[in-house]
Amino acid sequence: MVRHMRSDASLARTVAFPRVINIEDLRRLARRRLPSVVFAYIDGGAEDEVTLHENVRAFRDVAFRPRQCVAVPSCDLRTTVLGTPLALPFMLAPVGFCRMFYPRGEFYAAREASAAGTGYILSTFSGTRLEEVREGASGPLWYQLYVPGGRAVAEATIARAKAAGFGALVVTIDTPVAGLRERDFRYGVRPLLQGNVWSSLPHVGQFIRRPRWTMDFIADGSPRVFPNVELPGIGAMPCGDVGGLLEKTLVTWEDLRWMHDAWKGPLIVKGVHTGDDARRAIDAGASAVVVSNHGGRQLDGVPASIRALPEVVTAVNGQIEVLVDGGIRRGGDIVKAICLGARAVLIGRAYAWGLGAAGGPGVARAIEILRTDLIRTMRLLGCDSMAKLDRSYVDTPRDWTA
Ligand SMILES: Cc1cc2nc3c(=O)[nH]c(=O)nc-3n(C[C@H](O)[C@H](O)[C@H](O)COP(=O)(O)O)c2cc1C
Repeated sequence: MVRHMRSDASLARTVAFPRVINIEDLRRLARRRLPSVVFAYIDGGAEDEVTLHENVRAFRDVAFRPRQCVAVPSCDLRTTVLGTPLALPFMLAPVGFCRMFYPRGEFYAAREASAAGTGYILSTFSGTRLEEVREGASGPLWYQLYVPGGRAVAEATIARAKAAGFGALVVTIDTPVAGLRERDFRYGVRPLLQGNVWSSLPHVGQFIRRPRWTMDFIADGSPRVFPNVELPGIGAMPCGDVGGLLEKTLVTWEDLRWMHDAWKGPLIVKGVHTGDDARRAIDAGASAVVVSNHGGRQLDGVPASIRALPEVVTAVNGQIEVLVDGGIRRGGDIVKAICLGARAVLIGRAYAWGLGAAGGPGVARAIEILRTDLIRTMRLLGCDSMAKLDRSYVDTPRDWTA
């Protein structure tokens, strides 16, 4: 445990109502605590960030059709994903480098997801050992796989995740190369991750301006390795530069076969945009797909995830479950996604900003904001259960379902 860190109670006060009312407030506080480079890493997207912004904006094209004069004294937010019961219709998406946002970030994010009765997906690009994350979390955990160390290294990690009790393997397929995240270069993400003092010099002012974060990062051991990617003869893989790492993580449909054989459990394909690819995922043995554009961080110019969802839902035709992520900032966005056929959604930045703002209590606050949003929205909509949501509760532009 990092000694000088603030207590959970004191952190919780920093994100309490009414200082923090919505997710955007958490973003504002994250910006205040984090050096520019870390905030930019969370916040930014690829190239012109068209898809990043479109992910959020497109929810506005979906309009509710409420049923009035319906008493909704209580609201059932429960669902199941791949047979696993969840208290909430959203899970925490895999987000790399969480330990850069807050000491032992993955540990706290997973702990808070469990406390709220939902699941957490641990990224391969994490700074905390998967066994430690498992120890702190009583709820469902899934492991997100990249293969930067090659097949044998990935198979060893898969075996570890299985032994530790992770329930599903999430294979991300949208990173054949890294998207051009321009903000990362401007603020110096590479020197920070490489720990290169000389090339960090031009960027050093931002760390001086954020002494609390800097002290936390140093006290946490300035983590710059991925302890879940064990390279033979070397040990934990150094973070190096994100772009270079992603280029080593190309996954083809053929690879899904060996991943499936190694995992021997539910496999989820994350990063599907089209009905054709969703059907390919079914053929490759996927139990679910995640309609996702990586939060607008990869191919700029693809449509918003919520826009791509109806095509995928139609193509899948109930054969497997469909999840979606991208741009979810309000509980109402989650309701819209479920009306359009998603089994549940994943949230990324919404909790990453919370973690950056105030560690575990910041994540708990993000979850709580979305939970209360969900209940309010459902009551206003006149619907008492997630299971009863369907397309009749929303209107979409006509060409969405053509
Ligand atoms: C800072 C950051 C790091 C991410 N790292 C990963 C990762 O390691 N693996 C992965 O599959 N997706 C990663 N993603 C994508 C998320 O899993 C998710 O698809 C995306 O954040 C959803 O969009 P939202 O942030 O608008 O909710 C990352 C996203 C962010 C914002």
